[in-house]
Amino acid sequence: MAKRIYVFDTTLRDGEQVPGCQLNTEEKITVAKALDELGVDVIEAGFPVSSPGDFNSVVEITKAVTRPTICALTRAKEVDINVAGEALRFAKRSRIHTGIGSSDIHIQHKLRTTRENILEMAAAAVRQAKKVVHEVEFFCEDAGRADQEFLARMVETVIAAGADVVNIPDTTGYMLPWQYGERIKYLMNNVPNIDKAILSAHCHNDLGLATANSIAALTNGAMQVECTINGIGERAGNTALEEVAMILQCHPYLGLETNINTKKLVPISHMVSTMMRMPVQSNKAIVGRNAFAHSSGIHQDGFLKHRETYEIMDPADVGADASSILLTARSGRAALNHRLANIGYMLSKDQLDDAYKRFLDMADRLKQVDDDHLHELMRETEIVK
Ligand code: KIV
Ligand code: ZN
Repeated sequence: MAKRIYVFDTTLRDGEQVPGCQLNTEEKITVAKALDELGVDVIEAGFPVSSPGDFNSVVEITKAVTRPTICALTRAKEVDINVAGEALRFAKRSRIHTGIGSSDIHIQHKLRTTRENILEMAAAAVRQAKKVVHEVEFFCEDAGRADQEFLARMVETVIAAGADVVNIPDTTGYMLPWQYGERIKYLMNNVPNIDKAILSAHCHNDLGLATANSIAALTNGAMQVECTINGIGERAGNTALEEVAMILQCHPYLGLETNINTKKLVPISHMVSTMMRMPVQSNKAIVGRNAFAHSSGIHQDGFLKHRETYEIMDPADVGADASSILLTARSGRAALNHRLANIGYMLSKDQLDDAYKRFLDMADRLKQVDDDHLHELMRETEIVK
């Protein structure tokens, strides 16, 4: 039986902190409801101590959305934790996500303290959070660059203090997939109380590896993956939820499954992109405008004969419109004939040869040929429906 992976969505926290992506409370509730329908397990709703507006959004989300766990971020500080507990007081299932730097770079240069002091602060934060919410997740910030043995001690310490989930973030997006996978495996094998908590993957995309790293973590024992819709987030972004969901669905032999209703992926992608004023690149995996568009003659011919020659997913499975055949000067006769038939023109071989020559002239001029252009082409060649 497949192992159930928990999906922790941080679109409203790591995603929303991107300049220009800020949402008001009403918009956040709309996104949270859509995430609930999508089937995520945890919604990270905000960072309550950061502003009264964020505090209020977390409160309102806990009232409007009750199935997923609602989570709030804090630093490892008592004031943050108490404020987050207050913001989460109406949640059916509440979680505080608290944490502190784990790499020497963070400990020495940002926090200006010692490893021993960090362990004490980490344990104290978890104990405090345990008093005010149902679940506690601890993040070992910059775990990707932390000393591995110290990281293992930190994980052991916070689990002993009561953490239910321990997040191993590759905060700077530095790691390679095999390194991140090995790091998770090391923790699974070397932390004595690891059976008392689950590990979570939180990857950033600075080298374009966030999704690959997350999958490496899941295949090495992490049970939770942290992601955002369209991969939005700090700098180059976070792991894209839609990519993880479809990778696990397309590779069932991995034995990992989520609760995501994949048919809702494209609709929520559009919603988040519009609301956050963050356009999705056309060639973005799963949700980009061109993800199911075929434009070269060779691909179009194969696709028209048998869809699976050039598609590994059915667009309907992710809620996308039907695959499209784009007409450009790189298209072949098969694609032209297919599009003409779609709009009602049935051509003989000679008619198609003639139309194709004219079509190439047109496509060189226009770059992309649409249905109105095809009607014009048929008028020129005096072909009627
Ligand atoms: O990238 C990171 O380390 C974070 C933590 C706050 C979890 O976003
Ligand atoms: Zn992050």
